[in-house]
Amino acid sequence: MGKLSDTSINKIKEISRRYPTSESALLPALYVAQREKGWLAKEIMDEVADALDLPRVRVYGVATFYTMYYKKPMGKYVIQVCTNVSCMINGGEEIFGHLKKKFGIKSGETTGDGLFSILEVECLGNCGNAPVMQVNEDFYENLTIEAVDEIIDSLKKKK
Ligand code: FES
Repeated sequence: MGKLSDTSINKIKEISRRYPTSESALLPALYVAQREKGWLAKEIMDEVADALDLPRVRVYGVATFYTMYYKKPMGKYVIQVCTNVSCMINGGEEIFGHLKKKFGIKSGETTGDGLFSILEVECLGNCGNAPVMQVNEDFYENLTIEAVDEIIDSLKKKK
């Protein structure tokens, strides 16, 4: 995997200037890196650590703790389905089960064409509109299986 672009490095440095310590800029900085590369390879985490002047081990620890940071290559569209309490009661598990069957993959896996990855996740913070899912940075709420199928179809058309 190539290095981060100068644009991303500059963005990370700019973010760090907005925080009292560079450690507090770590989460948004990792997002910048992931947005460019799609996932966080070790050498990319090293670059983030160097840009923030933080110990590399600190960056690995944070990146591996949070599920929203990907430690392996993911599909073009990463579908995160919440199956926590409110979503579970309102059909979140059925929706996730439907996606597993539809794509023939498990949580954390990617379809053979590289288009979709699915992740079963904890509360996405929108329990009042359960069940919900997030596709990359777009949010979908009050889902049904039919609505999920329509979303997938429209993403396939976009490619
Ligand atoms: S339980 Fe699903 S968003 Fe909170």
